[in-house]
Amino acid sequence: MKIDIITLFPDMFKGPFDMSMIWKAQDRGLAQINLINLRDFGLGTRHTVDDTPYGGGDGMVLKPEPVVAAIEAARTANPGARVIALTPSGHRYSQAMAAELSELPGLILLAGHYEGFDERILTYVDDQVSIGDYVLTGGELPAMVILDSVVRLIPGVLGGEASAADESFSEPDLLEYPHYTRPQEFRGEAVPEVLQNGHHAEIAKWRRAQAQAKTAKFRPDLLKNSN
Ligand code: ADE
Repeated sequence: MKIDIITLFPDMFKGPFDMSMIWKAQDRGLAQINLINLRDFGLGTRHTVDDTPYGGGDGMVLKPEPVVAAIEAARTANPGARVIALTPSGHRYSQAMAAELSELPGLILLAGHYEGFDERILTYVDDQVSIGDYVLTGGELPAMVILDSVVRLIPGVLGGEASAADESFSEPDLLEYPHYTRPQEFRGEAVPEVLQNGHHAEIAKWRRAQAQAKTAKFRPDLLKNSN
């Protein structure tokens, strides 16, 4: 999958994408990540990308000409990609959306900054996505969140394919069951007996009950949605 990120701060991505699973995915040729510096499309000798808002108000707004030029250049080099603008006023991101995006041939993530995008820019994207009900200083962290959650679902990126299917949110309305490893006892707290005995059916039953209890405690809203 080819993933382009249009951003004013490409350096922000250097650490996270040069490590661990994202690095492995690139090394194996499963994901190709390309950073596009929005400043390269800026206007005039100062490469201007933003301006003051019509009608007044705080902050600066990203101008349509440089952003749309960057989107068009990215689309040409990544045909078939879905273009997603990161904005707190978009559709709420979810594991279901991550699964859908992981099947696409390409993705172009547009990270906004300042007060946001000139509204006319949004005509040139395919979707607008928010990673949650809080406001960040820009779309870079949301782009990293989306990229991470999508790339790990590309077949071959994780070790066992089962590990992606087994966890919280893959079963949409249930959090993941608790995990234990050695030591068998830690500061007086032992690993649950059922996990030590190795009866697969009993373990599966226990894990499901634990997942339901955890969901009831931390995310009762999910149980209300489930049948
Ligand atoms: N930009 C600023 N806050 C955001 C959020 N919560 N989701 C996506 N993009 C954003």
